[in-house]
Amino acid sequence: TLFVASTTAPVNIATLKYWGKRDKTLNLPTNSSISVTLSQEDLRTLTSVCTGPEITEDKLWLNGSEESLKSERTQNCLADLRKLRMKLEDEDSNLPKMSKWNVVIVSENNFPTAAGLASSAAGFAALVMAIAKLYELPDSLSEISKIARKGSGSACRSLLGGYVAWEMGEKADGSDSKAVQIAPMEHWPNMKAAILVVSASKKDTPSTSGMQLTVGTSDLFQHRIKDVVPHRFVEMKQAVLEKDWPTFAELTMKDSNSFHATCLDSFPPIFYMNDVSKGIIKLCHFINAFYNETIVAYTFDAGPNAVLYYLEENESKLFAFIYELFAEVPGWDSKFSKDELTQFL
Ligand code: DP6
Repeated sequence: TLFVASTTAPVNIATLKYWGKRDKTLNLPTNSSISVTLSQEDLRTLTSVCTGPEITEDKLWLNGSEESLKSERTQNCLADLRKLRMKLEDEDSNLPKMSKWNVVIVSENNFPTAAGLASSAAGFAALVMAIAKLYELPDSLSEISKIARKGSGSACRSLLGGYVAWEMGEKADGSDSKAVQIAPMEHWPNMKAAILVVSASKKDTPSTSGMQLTVGTSDLFQHRIKDVVPHRFVEMKQAVLEKDWPTFAELTMKDSNSFHATCLDSFPPIFYMNDVSKGIIKLCHFINAFYNETIVAYTFDAGPNAVLYYLEENESKLFAFIYELFAEVPGWDSKFSKDELTQFL
């Protein structure tokens, strides 16, 4: 007999960044963070898992090639899930002894892996959710998010839809460091995200080692986690609940800049954004000034790609500029002179 389960998990993009760990093994952060989970149709990981007594070893297939399951992170997730399953089996002896069997995991992304597009978040969220489904675990999504967190910190936020807070928690065992929903997607249905893929190649400094370097060397980072993020977390949550777009947009841009500033303040410095990324930042500020209204907010993770948040009703105002600069749209009638535009390129 074989037992099978499948699930998809979407990518989430932080608007208040997680950067820094107080515990590396458990992925416990030095600050709480906030993200928006993108819709399932866009960027997602699809994961299927299968277990049964005839499966001779744990195996992982990622985007068509076999990958090692030996990493401490994956092993921690599997061990936690098996422990929860074992509890159920102890309570009900009729249940199949899945906790004793190996698993085969097959996972596929519909976007470039490790290009700073939060693939590890969707990946670990899908892996943990698929196995939780296979094991028929009754635990809440917040509870399961603590397991995904051990795979990759940001993965805990991909278990919940819409606007999500990852509460850093205080306890040393991580039992209070979990994701909770601030509001579902439908709460603010006209919020949209656009991703400008500046480069689809692998990023330079992986986030785990980047964070460790920042925590160990940046003075600015201490200021960020003590004096900046705690009240920004409260303000951003409030802005989401009140659908206060200008505030949400401003806090999002400022937090991206603050995170990248701590990267620059690390020693040796880490550069995730390139000249195209910086051009996009200038362009966003230009667009908001041009319309004298907040049209767009940018945010950058550990790579050069931009994620732009905007309200649906402003889409054509924003894309007028994006098309002018970055796309070759047949028949597009340019409204700006080359001089006006080259400052961003
Ligand atoms: C810049 O979650 O990838 O995207 O916990 O080491 O796996 P690990 O790090 P990861 O870091 C994400 C960093 C970020 C900000 C964020 O998503 O909050």
